[in-house]
Amino acid sequence: MPQTTTSGRAVKAVIPAAGLATRFLPATKAVPKELLPVVDRPVLQYIVEEAAAAGITDVLLVTGRGKTAMVDHFDRRPDLEQRLAEKGDDERLAAVKRPSELAAIHSIRQGEALGLGHAVSFAESHVGGGAFAVLLGDEFMDDATLLNEMLDLQARTGGIVIALLEVGKDEVSRYGICSVSRAEGNAVEITGMVEKPSPEDAPSNLAIIGRYILPFEIFDALRRIGPGSGGEIQLTDAMALMLKEGAPVHGIVYGGVRYDTGMPLGYLQTVVELACQRADIGPAFRQWLVEFVGKEL
Ligand code: G1P
Repeated sequence: MPQTTTSGRAVKAVIPAAGLATRFLPATKAVPKELLPVVDRPVLQYIVEEAAAAGITDVLLVTGRGKTAMVDHFDRRPDLEQRLAEKGDDERLAAVKRPSELAAIHSIRQGEALGLGHAVSFAESHVGGGAFAVLLGDEFMDDATLLNEMLDLQARTGGIVIALLEVGKDEVSRYGICSVSRAEGNAVEITGMVEKPSPEDAPSNLAIIGRYILPFEIFDALRRIGPGSGGEIQLTDAMALMLKEGAPVHGIVYGGVRYDTGMPLGYLQTVVELACQRADIGPAFRQWLVEFVGKEL
């Protein structure tokens, strides 16, 4: 049985962001998909904001070739800041500084993208010990409650905690799918998991969504698995190995809104929804949208 250790609430997060984003070409040929704007902030900033709101203070971006602009976004821009300060534009000045104030941002390069598990394995020396969060860069949630609850639960159990979402049977082959037993509120005990099963083989319709809290022992499990679904090193397989060896694995079933910006349709829905919610442009945008849709029907 793997020794998992309770080491208090995790304060570090890893965001795998080295992928080629082929579902979004040609937009992502030169611009990382993580930097596509949702209204006026890049997708990645929303994710880091969600992490910071849940008490994460240190974020490691696992990046790849052509993606250094992502790290720049979280750096200071003294020239721009000075210009805005001189103009007395305090609002924009605060907006420009904000990304650098959210958390300490670090990056590491994943030379070749061999799967999510492979990306996470690059975080071992940065994490150093103890539990940490993994947040996938093209999914974000509308508040930090989920991540907060997950961090609390992990600090209590010392094991793995993942976020789950009920999906349609026709969608199961896009996700890691879990079988679960005992439920306590919205927390469930996970009894099995499989990466991208066919609808016939799926043990349930509970899909793993892009939030994980993992104990340090996951790095050893990642070393002990081989390539899985799609020939890639799968995080799901490493978690399944720890589960088999007796580590506690829990899920929190998410009931809120999840934004999937990884492909054009989900991205557009996210932009429209978040634009409608904005206090500044929301009212005018909603009015235009209603008129536009009315004309199209
Ligand atoms: C990854 C994980 C999968 C999870 C999904 C959530 O898959 O491997 O288990 O359900 O993220 O979005 P990917 O979307 O990278 O193929």
